[in-house]
Amino acid sequence: MVVEGSVNWNPEEARRYHEATKHTFVSVRMPGRGLDWENRPYPFKVYLDAEKIRLPAGFGSPPLDLISAITSQQRRTERLNLSELAGLLFYSAGITRIYLYPFGGRYYFRAYPSTGALYQTELYVVAGDVSGLEPGVYHFDPGQFVLSVIRRGDYRSHLSALTGHDGVVSCDAAVVLTSVAWRNAWKYGARSYRHWFWDGGTLCANLISTAGSLGLGWEVLVGFVDDLLNGLLGIDGRREAAIAVVPLWSGHASRAGPSPEVGEVRHRVLPLSRREVEYEEVTRAYASSRLLSAEEVSLWRKRASSMTDVGARHEGRRLRLSGPPDGLALPPLGDVILRRGSTRRFSRVEIEAWKLGFVLRSMSVPLKTDFLGNQGSLVSVFAIVNGVEGVPSGSYLYDRLTGELVLLREGRFRRTAEYLCLEQELGGDASATLFLMSPLDAVLSSLGNRGYRASQFEAGIRVGLAYLAAHSVGIGATGLTFYDDDVREFFSPASSEMECMMVVALGVPAYKPKPGSVHIGAVEHPVR
Ligand SMILES: Cc1cc2nc3c(=O)[nH]c(=O)nc-3n(C[C@H](O)[C@H](O)[C@H](O)COP(=O)(O)O)c2cc1C
Repeated sequence: MVVEGSVNWNPEEARRYHEATKHTFVSVRMPGRGLDWENRPYPFKVYLDAEKIRLPAGFGSPPLDLISAITSQQRRTERLNLSELAGLLFYSAGITRIYLYPFGGRYYFRAYPSTGALYQTELYVVAGDVSGLEPGVYHFDPGQFVLSVIRRGDYRSHLSALTGHDGVVSCDAAVVLTSVAWRNAWKYGARSYRHWFWDGGTLCANLISTAGSLGLGWEVLVGFVDDLLNGLLGIDGRREAAIAVVPLWSGHASRAGPSPEVGEVRHRVLPLSRREVEYEEVTRAYASSRLLSAEEVSLWRKRASSMTDVGARHEGRRLRLSGPPDGLALPPLGDVILRRGSTRRFSRVEIEAWKLGFVLRSMSVPLKTDFLGNQGSLVSVFAIVNGVEGVPSGSYLYDRLTGELVLLREGRFRRTAEYLCLEQELGGDASATLFLMSPLDAVLSSLGNRGYRASQFEAGIRVGLAYLAAHSVGIGATGLTFYDDDVREFFSPASSEMECMMVVALGVPAYKPKPGSVHIGAVEHPVR
């Protein structure tokens, strides 16, 4: 125990959770719970008694290409305004496709990929100095495209104190990501806690690249005093809990004064479903990774910044993937986000090597976060290549510092890739299947159980970037789940200290995907 009374520093908890929620050949064949469709959680959080602010619909589409957007420096002449904020929220989590069920009813697909299309990630805005919006704490409803007022007042100083980040006092606004436990646990049970960070991460990739396209500075914070942040949002930290904070800086916002008192807020919300089931493993994994005080957050931040490089290493034949052809114009991010969708079937057509190189480089860009110091990344990317022009089929480790693939083993591994991805054909039909792995023990010993959140969340962001990069160069992508220990074994010895965090498969879709579009205020909530 590093801080008196703390819970985070016994990393056995995260390790136990991880082991208990591994998929194996046997575990997926055990009798399941089955899905109770009559009790399916509603995919939107709806405030029944809060004041609503309609968000403007006429926002612009993010104009920069992905790489320019994600690597952009803060470069603004004005504060963030409400219309831009509306665009930022839309391109992060808005409705981009509406599916009509053959027997009636509609299903709403969103700007970011999410396990099972269950969309348990909610967005809140802590607004300080946004032109056209009073300072306050708001919840974003993508269905009606409104903000619900949680509380009025400028809470940036409070947010700064609870994240241990001084710069937060002069952000224009901060977006807070939360996860609604039951919405994903309904289908995925105990493993759903991993999905909090996977899906929060893919959403975050949209958010930070859209922010970059608007010329805003941003940083991803996963260290904060959980109970204080949950209290600020008016959520209980059990059925719904905060997972990340992303402050946004124009460089022109005022500096916040002292925050108002943070009294208790209680709003009525639409029930998710008739009854909710709480998964003890999820509650425990979350609770044991809480940081309990500003002092503990500050210590956690120090430990994160002094971590050394934890990337996997391997000596082997190196292969440099060329860059995009000269003069290639990449599409604007806004179009890419609307076009994005998870590929449902790959054609096995080979992709050009530069496209794989582009995806790998884009997903490996340095990220400004509170958990990556000198080490640059908590995840290493391993790959099975099965259909990339000029790249021998085989298994590889990606060296993000040199941009090279390091050969682990040459061979044809389509059937293995399919097997590793829970026997899903998508894994084997892909041109390349990427496995994001993290040296869990090293991460947990530095960052405690909170390191588990950080590793999973970083993997989520990088998978989100991989999706956007793939769609930027006209290929498809899909996240996939996996047999944990078999993945580690397959890439051993290079992966022997690693655990698989996430998988994303890349390739040419076997059909012509339909692009999405902007759907504003599309949902009539069943409010009684
Ligand atoms: C982390 C992650 C894991 C996923 N795992 C699978 C999977 O194992 N099998 C699958 O068919 N789709 C998988 N998906 C795709 C989701 O089902 C898909 O994102 C969701 O249905 C929403 O559709 P869209 O991505 O086309 O918008 C995964 C997506 C993510 C983000």
